[in-house]
Amino acid sequence: MNTLAIVSRKGGVGKTTVSINLAASLAKAGHTTALIDLESQAAATVGMGIDYTVGPTVAHVLLGEADLPSVLHEAHGVQVAPGSQRLSAVERMLQAESLPAAQYPLPRYIDQLAEADVADWCIIDTPPSLGLLTLNALAAADHCVGVATAEYASVEAILQTLEMSAQVRQGLNPSLQLLGVVINEYHKVQIQDRHVVKRLEDKVPLLRPFIRDTQKVSVAYGFREPVVLREPSAVVSIEYRRLTKGVISRVEESARREGAHGA
Ligand SMILES: Nc1ncnc2c1ncn2[C@@H]1O[C@H](COP(=O)(O)OP(=O)(O)OP(=O)(O)O)[C@@H](O)[C@H]1O
Ligand SMILES: [Mg+2]
Repeated sequence: MNTLAIVSRKGGVGKTTVSINLAASLAKAGHTTALIDLESQAAATVGMGIDYTVGPTVAHVLLGEADLPSVLHEAHGVQVAPGSQRLSAVERMLQAESLPAAQYPLPRYIDQLAEADVADWCIIDTPPSLGLLTLNALAAADHCVGVATAEYASVEAILQTLEMSAQVRQGLNPSLQLLGVVINEYHKVQIQDRHVVKRLEDKVPLLRPFIRDTQKVSVAYGFREPVVLREPSAVVSIEYRRLTKGVISRVEESARREGAHGA
C-alpha cells in the first residue's frame, strides 16, 4: 500500500480538497483507495457525503477502541475512515503520553490496513498544524505531499511543514519521502502568483499541473461530492486527473529507485 500524508500547517490552502479529489481520482482510475480523515472538523468525511456522527471513527481507532478496517465506509468508490470532533481530545491525550509508541499509534494501524489488503493507496488528510495528529500521519506515511497556495504566508508555512517532515524522516520514519507540493487555487494571469511559485520551485519539487482557482470546487463540496466526479469534464477535474497520474508515476519511480538501491 502506498500511503500519502497531505500536509501544510496553514489552514484553508486545500489539503482536504486535494485529499478528496486525489482519492476519488485514484479510485476512478481503478485503484483501491482509502482516505483517512485525521482532522477534527471532519471536512473530508463531510465532503465525501458521510455522516460521521454515526458509528466509530478514526478517533476510536487511535484510542484503541476499534480496528482501522472496521471503521471504513465506502463513498464515491473510496474507503473512508471518518474524522470526528473527538480527534482534538485524542491529540491532547497523545500529548500526555510519555512513550513514543503511545504517542504515535497511527503507523501500527496503517500497517494493519496494509496487511488487511483493503487498498493499494491510502491518503491521509491532516489538520492545519504541526501537532501530534500531523506528526502521526508523517510517521505512518511513505510519502509526504505538501499543499500551498501562491501566497507568501502559504509558502512560508509549507517550507516549515516540509522542514518538520525532514525531521520525521531523520527520526521517527526514515522511509518517508517528499513527493512534492501541489499548488492550489492558482491564477495563471497574476504576476504575484508566478513570483511566489518561482520562489518555492527553487526549493522543493512542485507537482504538476497546478490546480486552478474555481468555484466549481466548493460547489461540488456543497453537494458532498469530489469535483472530479461531479464535473468530470471541467478543466479543474482534468488538472486533478493529470496530477493523479503524475503522483502515481512519481511513487512508482521512487519504488523502482528503492528496489534498485536494495538490490
Ligand atoms: N482549486 C480551488 N478553487 C477554489 N476554491 C478552492 C479550491 N480548492 C479548495 N477550495 C476551497 O477553499 C476552502 C479551503 O479548502 P480546504 O478545506 O480543502 O482547505 P484545508 O487546507 O483542508 O483547510 P483546513 O486547514 O481548515 O483543514 C474550501 O472552501 C474549498 O472549497
Ligand atoms: Mg482540511
